[in-house]
Amino acid sequence: MHEVAVNPWVAFAYLVAGVCFILALRGLSSPSTSQRGNRLGMIGMAIAVVTTLVTHVPVQTVGLVLDGPAGPIAATGPLFARIDTVAVLEILAAIAIGAAIGITTARRIAMTAMPQLVAAFHSLVGLAAVLVGFAAYLNPQAFGIGQLVVPLIGDPFTVIQPASKVEMGLGVAIGAITFSGSVIAFLKLNGNMGGKPILLPGRHAINLGTLVAILVLVAHFAHTQDGWAFWVLTVLAFAIGFLLIIPIGGADMPVVVSMLNSYSGWAAAAMGFTLGNSAMIITGALVGSSGAILSYIMCRAMNRSFISVIAGGFGAVAGPAGEAAATDRPWKRGSAEDAAFLMSQASQVVIVPGYGMAVAQAQHALREMADKLKEEGVRVKYAIHPVAGRMPGHMNVLLAEANVPYDEVFELEDINADFAQTDVAFVIGANDVTNPAAKTDKTSPIYGMPVLDVEKAGTVLFIKRSMGGVGYAGVDNELFYRDNTMMLLADAKKMVEEIVKALG
Ligand code: TAP
Repeated sequence: MHEVAVNPWVAFAYLVAGVCFILALRGLSSPSTSQRGNRLGMIGMAIAVVTTLVTHVPVQTVGLVLDGPAGPIAATGPLFARIDTVAVLEILAAIAIGAAIGITTARRIAMTAMPQLVAAFHSLVGLAAVLVGFAAYLNPQAFGIGQLVVPLIGDPFTVIQPASKVEMGLGVAIGAITFSGSVIAFLKLNGNMGGKPILLPGRHAINLGTLVAILVLVAHFAHTQDGWAFWVLTVLAFAIGFLLIIPIGGADMPVVVSMLNSYSGWAAAAMGFTLGNSAMIITGALVGSSGAILSYIMCRAMNRSFISVIAGGFGAVAGPAGEAAATDRPWKRGSAEDAAFLMSQASQVVIVPGYGMAVAQAQHALREMADKLKEEGVRVKYAIHPVAGRMPGHMNVLLAEANVPYDEVFELEDINADFAQTDVAFVIGANDVTNPAAKTDKTSPIYGMPVLDVEKAGTVLFIKRSMGGVGYAGVDNELFYRDNTMMLLADAKKMVEEIVKALG
């Protein structure tokens, strides 16, 4: 790193911000401490932003003007500095505009659209890293990474330190990959682009070749400071972000979003070195490593190897099984009264929430139903699959919003053995995460993903709107046609409200 935070107070403030971020991550690891974690994250970010602004107040250098006999003479060289109020106002206006957009989006966004919002935000982080890299390359002296050389013959030029050129090259490359990759992830998640993998012939060779070319160009740029190498590596990085994400299918998108999250962190960390900003290095490293760990955990939850996700081609929106979503097979339909009766007679009910609960916003009615069952002496538990819904922790957030006690909520590995001793599994808007094809059908796009063993319960109740609808992976669920299954076809909130009424 070329610049150290000279002022110990600045170093201290950045350290406090870094500690706040670490504690925020720790808080976010459990629903009961997540709000405190979020608040600490906000405090840390406020400290970092204010410290950066205060220590980088834009100044104008002003020459001293002397009066000579024939009029004013400007002294050569800057003699004193004053705060550049226009630049300060520009910065404050940019912060206000960004904050207004952020606050409005956060208030308006539906929980179900969170993954694409996260992808959109990552694209902005990537773009910011690229723009900082451009600024540093075009005006290295302003960033304290260049030295002006005035040769005896020829024009003066600026030499950038080799380490800064490596940081800049890598930061811009990772930022550009994050930007174009996140834009594609956003378009896929938002439905503007098909979720099906787009498989180019020879894509592995093309991707590998492009990545190697980027690294060679970074090395060349660091060695020679040739401008063309910098610009070409940027273009190649934008292209590789696009190429890496188009072959990835819908079912792997959550992993991709968290992987891009990780990339955006590393891009920010690289730029932190260029700017000599320790808070940015700490934050970037935290985002980079936590995103990588989350990607790994999600890969494990879906039983996918990280390399095969990156290599792409998995998770077509509708496989052969999905297209055959069969309504011609016999199945049993139940009513709210049937469901209420079955559950009130049970000694244990395990509720399995999924994406449909989020769409219907049925969590409050669901808690009311659970309260009624508990009043009747039924033991109620909630089973959470790690990728239920559309984002990590989606179900936990919704249940917490409805004040479901944390000690009733269990992760897959802690509850799966319980289904065999459960009278009723109440599946509300979940499909893929219960699909036994993941255990038995090698051709299924979800094959290998650990699933909740709901079929082991005495009776399985499934709430969904129609027999034709499939889950995210686009495959039919064989459990709908089993003898111990009863289908409750309706909007999840409406059905649960009717069950609550029937429970009296
Ligand atoms: P899905 O398999 O997507 O199934 C959702 C179910 O909800 C469907 O059966 C759907 O059937 C029903 N549904 C939709 N709207 C409903 C409503 N208003 N009322 C009642 N039912 C409704 O959900 P899941 O089991 O939670 O699995 C999650 C899937 O998403 C996995 O494949 C996972 O890989 C993927 N994914 C996960 C994430 C993360 S990180 N959680 C992110 C992206 C993708 P109808 O249409 O017939 O109602």
